[in-house]
Amino acid sequence: MKIRVPATSANLGPGFDSCGIALSKYLFIEIMEESDRWEILHELGSEIPNDESNLLLRVALKLAPTLTPRKIRMYSDIPLARGLGSSSSVIVAGIELANRLGHLNLSDAQKVDIATAIEGHPDNVAPAIYGDFLITAFDHEHKQTYVVKHHFPECNIVAYIPQEQLLTEASRNVLPKTLDFSTAVEASAIANVMIAAVIKGNLPLAGKMMQADRFHENYREKLIPHLSTIRQICEEEGGYGCFLSGAGPTVLAIVPPEKADKICRLLHALETNAAIEQLQIDREGV
Ligand code: HSE
Repeated sequence: MKIRVPATSANLGPGFDSCGIALSKYLFIEIMEESDRWEILHELGSEIPNDESNLLLRVALKLAPTLTPRKIRMYSDIPLARGLGSSSSVIVAGIELANRLGHLNLSDAQKVDIATAIEGHPDNVAPAIYGDFLITAFDHEHKQTYVVKHHFPECNIVAYIPQEQLLTEASRNVLPKTLDFSTAVEASAIANVMIAAVIKGNLPLAGKMMQADRFHENYREKLIPHLSTIRQICEEEGGYGCFLSGAGPTVLAIVPPEKADKICRLLHALETNAAIEQLQIDREGV
């Protein structure tokens, strides 16, 4: 039995803690034979546990504590702590593992509620579960998540993925505790137009709004020195817009297909150690 969970990019600029897309990088879990103990075979580095202390099994065994132990193979090309939803992919895989082996019959909505309670916000876990473009809201008081899935218009996505990791916590610590009323009104209006433009298929307007975020990117820019350079290249070369992927440090540029190769070449020419990749939207989710 195999489980495949896509990478995700949260926020899309102004959709902070709310919007996300699923991307064509994946965590793969292969569930193998029963064993006398849980064992995860992986080559993801010695810091990733291979026993029940691994996040995958912590999530799965909380949902289905009586599962018979198995050997599990785990592969991932989602880099850790780069803003591409690596921890969400493991949480979603853990839920799916419990769901399938424990015959829990969870609906997608239930999976999102469980995953959001663990992750704290739904903007990565919801697209990892549903695929494509998700607009979400989390009601903290009632612990309920509301989601709307919509087709993201066809486009190319260029990812600038630095070698250096940035922990979400560090990237959230630079955010203000409050926003003044007029900034909040403006930030919310920008997010509304971004979402409406995506739904209408108007990527030039959506891209403009993605770059106009008032919630978080200005505060995070000091941690992401390459953001303004990539923005400039994207603007000069006819990209629709670019934004910090989740809490960073990856930056995504949404571009017309005919512009993608040149934008990639210019990003390569920056001579950093970052990986430059062209990604697609994953339309299916887990
Ligand atoms: N919305 C979150 C953030 C995504 O930007 O901090 C990272 O978990």
